[in-house]
Amino acid sequence: MKVRTTSLLLAATTAAGCLLALASGHAVRAQGTDAKPAAAAPAAGGKNEHGLDIVKNPYTDNAEAIAKGKDLFVSKACSGCHGAGGGGGMCPPVINDTWVYGSDDTTLFNLVKLGSTAMQTKGYSRIGHEKVVGDMPPFESVVSDDELWKILAFVRSKYAGDPAEKNW
Ligand code: HEC
Repeated sequence: MKVRTTSLLLAATTAAGCLLALASGHAVRAQGTDAKPAAAAPAAGGKNEHGLDIVKNPYTDNAEAIAKGKDLFVSKACSGCHGAGGGGGMCPPVINDTWVYGSDDTTLFNLVKLGSTAMQTKGYSRIGHEKVVGDMPPFESVVSDDELWKILAFVRSKYAGDPAEKNW
């Protein structure tokens, strides 16, 4: 009974968190779904145009970190919204080449840490349009920076988009 209530609750939460963007499908396409990033990611060290420290994932292509990140992706509930393999479901996929705010490490790291609302406060807007739209909740209090980089290394390892679009 308990298990059933919990999974129902999770389903309800994720359903409320992400809405199908069917109605806006036309407008979205007219704007161009594949907005390319304005420029390649700047080198680590300085600040980006939104005042965020430019950071780089220390674990990209690190097999051990990717394996740990895969477990964390499930245990920290990312998979509940994004699907076990990151391919999406009720919330956007994290493995294709459409990126809501940008594909660089600095943007993804801060989006997961701070959430959509904080990113928008910093001047980010939705430039890439996925089929489902919702707010990414802040995970700062749930995952450490180190765990987050491992999770993102796993996400990168599942990338199934155009290789030419990679900027990490
Ligand atoms: C409650 C559902 C939910 C959970 C849980 C969740 N996300 Fe998200 N995530 C979203 C939504 C919705 C978006 C789109 C944000 C927007 O459009 O502002 C998103 C966006 C993202 C993106 C950018 C995707 C893109 O196409 O640009 C990444 C990367 C991401 N999430 C990673 C994670 C990770 C890692 C975790 C776990 C630590 C996680 N998410 C947990 C709902 C969720």
